Amino acid sequence: MFAGLRAGFTAAVALGLAGCEVEVDDAAVADDLWAAIQGHEAWSQPPGWEGIVASNSHTQFVRVFQNDVAEGWDGTPPAPYGTMMVKEGYNDQDGADLVGYTVMWKLEGYNEDQGDWFWAELYPDGSYDFGDVGAVQTCIACHAASAHDYSMAIGSLPDGA
Ligand code: HEC
Repeated sequence: MFAGLRAGFTAAVALGLAGCEVEVDDAAVADDLWAAIQGHEAWSQPPGWEGIVASNSHTQFVRVFQNDVAEGWDGTPPAPYGTMMVKEGYNDQDGADLVGYTVMWKLEGYNEDQGDWFWAELYPDGSYDFGDVGAVQTCIACHAASAHDYSMAIGSLPDGA
C-alpha cells in the first residue's frame, strides 16, 4: 500500500520538475489515509494528551493519536516524513458520541510551500465532504500558527503551554 503511494508521489514530483502539470489525486490519497488509520486506537498519544481532553478548537472533546513515525518527534520542525496524527472529535467527555476524525499526514513533495501536510476531515465511516481532503486551506490557516511544523498537539499541551 505505502510502496505504491510513494511511487505515485515520486512520479508526480518528477513530472512536475519536468514542467508538466500533474495533479496529485487527493481522493486516492484519502483512501490510503483511511486504510492507514484503521486500528489507530492502538497507537500512542502525544505526551500530555492522554485520554479524551477538552478541545481548544475543533469539537468539544478530542482524543489525539500519533503513528510510530511521530513517536520520536518532539515538535522541533520539521516533522519526519510519514508522520501522521489522528484526532477523534467527540461531543461528550466519555467518548460515546463520535463526530468524526481529522488527520494530518506529512508526505514528501505533496505541498512543499505549506509544510507538505495532507489534511483530512472525515465522518466516522470515512466519508467526507468536497474540499475536506488535501491541502485544505482552512486547516492550514489555523495550524500555521504552530511553532511545531503545523502540529498543535506535539510539542504543546492541551492548555496551550
Ligand atoms: C481554528 C483553528 C483550527 C482549525 C481551523 C483546524 N484546527 Fe486542527 N487543531 C487546532 C488545535 C487548537 C488543536 C489542538 C487540539 C485541540 O485543542 O483540539 C488541533 C489539533 C489537530 C490535530 C491533532 C494533531 C496535531 O498535532 O495538531 C489534527 C490531526 C488536526 N488538528 C487536524 C485538522 C484538520 C484536518 C483541519 C481542517 C479540516 C483542522 N485541524 C482545522 C486548531 C485548528
